[in-house]
Amino acid sequence: MKNDEVMERLKKSLEFYQELGFKYMPVQLALKSKSAEEQGRGGEELIETKNDSISAPKPSTFPTVTTSELQSFRTSALKALRDEIGDCRRCKLCNARKNIVFGEGLPNAELMFIGEGPGRDEDIQARPFVGEAGQLLTKLIEKLGFKRDEVYIANIVKCRPPGNREPEAEEVAICKPFLEKQIEIIRPKVIVSLGKISAHSLLGVKTQISRLRGNFLKYDDIPLMPTFHPAYLLRNPKDKWLVWNDMQKVIEKLKN
Ligand code: URA
Repeated sequence: MKNDEVMERLKKSLEFYQELGFKYMPVQLALKSKSAEEQGRGGEELIETKNDSISAPKPSTFPTVTTSELQSFRTSALKALRDEIGDCRRCKLCNARKNIVFGEGLPNAELMFIGEGPGRDEDIQARPFVGEAGQLLTKLIEKLGFKRDEVYIANIVKCRPPGNREPEAEEVAICKPFLEKQIEIIRPKVIVSLGKISAHSLLGVKTQISRLRGNFLKYDDIPLMPTFHPAYLLRNPKDKWLVWNDMQKVIEKLKN
């Protein structure tokens, strides 16, 4: 990534956290580089560019944050986001829902699963993927070598569409900014989208899920693997091996 792209992303990120109400970021500045100190440059080590006229900090002098600092920062940011959603009345899904299903899992998760929207059980328990399809997803996560609470699970819409119908475009459009913020906070290494609605909404395409699945695409620079929804697998268990193949690619990507 070029320097100005890095700066632009950093600026957007800071504005985003400011909007959420944060006044500071838990950053430990690692500015003291021995050679820079020796050269009396106030702790900033510089790289000389080809024409010697422009200098940029070496990556080793970039701010560093510990995993636990990041974890507590992300936990607070997610809580602030949940507070921002409040007792949401922004679309008509609020009329029949019992609970908002915000999402759950490890704020520092490297792997994030995104489904379509809560079903009956999720609506009652206020937790994503806890019904029959959820149990299948949990089994899959565990077969991949993770505990369920080591990944993050969310949905495109946070309220149950009545009768488990597909969420309408307007409902998705109203709810999506919250998911986008969630992804921005968690910044997983890999996203797995579950089913057609999730893939279409995150990727902005209309390609059939059977053609989309199995190949990495990008969501805001994050590798995204579209795959079948676990509810589809309950109806079509013969296709489980396809999802298993997709997940092998996910595991490979996480290792890289
Ligand atoms: N299906 C989904 O897409 N999400 C859930 O949370 C449960 C079922």
